[in-house]
Amino acid sequence: MYDDPVLYDLRTSGIARDDRFWTRRAAELGGPILELGCGTGRVSLPLAARGHRLVGLDLCPAMLARARSKARERGLDLWLLRADMRAFRLRADFQLVILPYQSLHDLPDLDGWLACLRCAGQVLAPGGRLVVEEHDPPSGSNGPQLVRSLRHPEGGVVRVYHELRREGDGSKVAGEIRYDHERDGAVVESRSFPFLGSCTGDAEFRAIADRAGLQVERVYGGYNDTPADEDTPHRLYVLAAKRQR
Ligand SMILES: C[S@@+](CC[C@H](N)C(=O)[O-])C[C@H]1O[C@@H](n2cnc3c(N)ncnc32)[C@H](O)[C@@H]1O
Repeated sequence: MYDDPVLYDLRTSGIARDDRFWTRRAAELGGPILELGCGTGRVSLPLAARGHRLVGLDLCPAMLARARSKARERGLDLWLLRADMRAFRLRADFQLVILPYQSLHDLPDLDGWLACLRCAGQVLAPGGRLVVEEHDPPSGSNGPQLVRSLRHPEGGVVRVYHELRREGDGSKVAGEIRYDHERDGAVVESRSFPFLGSCTGDAEFRAIADRAGLQVERVYGGYNDTPADEDTPHRLYVLAAKRQR
């Protein structure tokens, strides 16, 4: 799914509404900032452009190559690093570590979440915070959902459909992401990518964070900083290392 970073950027071009959320967290908590699963730099590059010292880490070479070329075009200086978010070591220098856009769901199992949160906790500077975005997938399949319609650079529109659902014991998310390029009402190209990853609910996320040596400080229920209520499917956790409390 990440082999085509141009398509990824097209698909995510309509979700810039998270930009202000990350800008506020960076202003509040400061840098240096580490983004885990930085992809094509959708979040990292605007933060670097605002003057934050930034490191972006991702496992997918194609996504990183696109992030590097966009950084060069924009004259931005940030370190983009190929590594696995479940097994990396960096100096404990970061005031802010971020995991936007449910990147943990890409990991095949919840052991990966634990490993990732442990690594993230170990690179926090004293007083540093980790902010993780989570979105619960629907529990059953309700068919392909149109999530975005975008103008295609070569004409027509791209409609993005997600069909994702929880599977097995509830800790797996599976399904498909499909892009239909339409012109004059007809589909001229359709591409589908299978998705298989992992997910969890609020209680289990907190238990994993606790095992990773992290404590949940607050939970936002959306990009406008409203607090999460009990059943919000969209949660943005702010975590601190337990050792410093
Ligand atoms: C949903 S995308 C999010 C990208 C970016 N944070 C954004 O908000 O647009 C998830 C990213 O995590 C990366 N990723 C998946 N598994 C990873 C792993 N084990 N280690 C590092 N990066 C990983 C993928 O390559 C992809 O770029």
